[in-house]
Amino acid sequence: MAKDAIRVAELFAGVGGFRLALDGYRSSEHPEFNRPAAGPFRTVWANQWEPPGNETKQFAWRCYEQRFGAGSCVNEDINRVLDDYENGVNAYGIPDEIDMVVGGFPCQDYSVAKPLAHAGGIEGRKGVLWWDIYRFLYLKKPRFVLLENVDRLLKSPASQRGRDFAIMLSCLADLGYAVEWRVVNSAEYGFPQRRKRVYIFGEKTQERWNLEERISEGVLSSALPIETPESFHAFDIPHDPYEVTNSFNLGGKAKSPFCAAGAMQGFHVVTSEATESFDGERMTLGSVIVPQDEVPESFYVSDEALEKWRYLKGSKNEVRTKRDANGIEFSYRYSEGSMAFPDLLENPSRTILTGEGGSGASRFKHIVQIGGRFRRLVPDELDQLQCFPKGWTNAGMSDGNRAFCMGNALVVGIPHLIGREIAKRLGAE
Ligand SMILES: C[S@@+](CC[C@H](N)C(=O)[O-])C[C@H]1O[C@@H](n2cnc3c(N)ncnc32)[C@H](O)[C@@H]1O
Repeated sequence: MAKDAIRVAELFAGVGGFRLALDGYRSSEHPEFNRPAAGPFRTVWANQWEPPGNETKQFAWRCYEQRFGAGSCVNEDINRVLDDYENGVNAYGIPDEIDMVVGGFPCQDYSVAKPLAHAGGIEGRKGVLWWDIYRFLYLKKPRFVLLENVDRLLKSPASQRGRDFAIMLSCLADLGYAVEWRVVNSAEYGFPQRRKRVYIFGEKTQERWNLEERISEGVLSSALPIETPESFHAFDIPHDPYEVTNSFNLGGKAKSPFCAAGAMQGFHVVTSEATESFDGERMTLGSVIVPQDEVPESFYVSDEALEKWRYLKGSKNEVRTKRDANGIEFSYRYSEGSMAFPDLLENPSRTILTGEGGSGASRFKHIVQIGGRFRRLVPDELDQLQCFPKGWTNAGMSDGNRAFCMGNALVVGIPHLIGREIAKRLGAE
């Protein structure tokens, strides 16, 4: 396949973070959005649907289509798309040949209810998006898969630490993928936001991987270097996700066996801690701040509101009261530490969340102090904290929805670096 295009399907596409990272962007109409490709990637199919599916909710999809062109993204529930495809109706135009599937998706309960040996294969719960990724991989058999999730995936659920990730790995092994994973904090690689996410890279390969070597010299650690780990932990996972569901790390108190870095092939897992190794340039929150004349007055915090913000951001140790289900009032002690207030311009920002928009005071929204005044971050700054070009989500949606899209998105620079490494290994830079 060297030098040929790598045909990508982007699932849960949002506003197109993976596509921007891999395909890059070239437009004469919007040269300010232009970005280099990571290699010969070509996104040939994309899907984005915001439940429950009503028209007003589809703002991320509309942004995607504004940026990548009409017809570039299918706006339908992926579950419905794949039900039709399985029934022989390719109503949503999934191409025959797909080399790579990419997507960011939620951490949910991945448990399965019946053994593989039962008719119909693995049956996951409807609405659990991992199972749609699994179906897509099963149906289209791409050579590569690159997924992004919250780092909590490696430890969930609390009652059976690591079970959900073990289910995912056993599914991928069953489909013939060898897998690498890494928890990446973007700020540790010079990006302007602290955002910890797990990246999972899988490849269908005949080559036998040395799993320890893969942790320090694989695709992920070549793209995002780490110190050579001092120790490794190895174990096997059951071959049937149903068995993983019923037996993996039972006991509630046990820690997850999955560390920040790891590799798996043929149901055998090796994992280790990871210390980032990076001496490049480091960006900060201050580097994305827009000129003052681009900040609407509504983003400034009034003197009256400031006290509320200070209280929410501050440390607390206080008695609170609450009513139980029977309406009986009881009191309890509530304590929490303080948050930086204002957020420091000389550091990378904290993780941006979907609730970053809106003027209401909050503990987690960012507040900066510039020219003596306190204000929230504007959407153009949120775009850039995720390494999207400034104005990417300025696509006919409200400021609150722009913030929501960025809270859902990823730091584009991370899959860009991973894509460059994949292309390099294919000799197709
Ligand atoms: C974590 S976000 C991914 C964001 C994306 N990586 C980006 O760069 O913007 C997951 C996306 O999946 C979409 N989604 C949720 N359920 C879906 C479904 N059933 N079918 C298709 N997309 C869905 C959500 O609307 C959301 O935009």
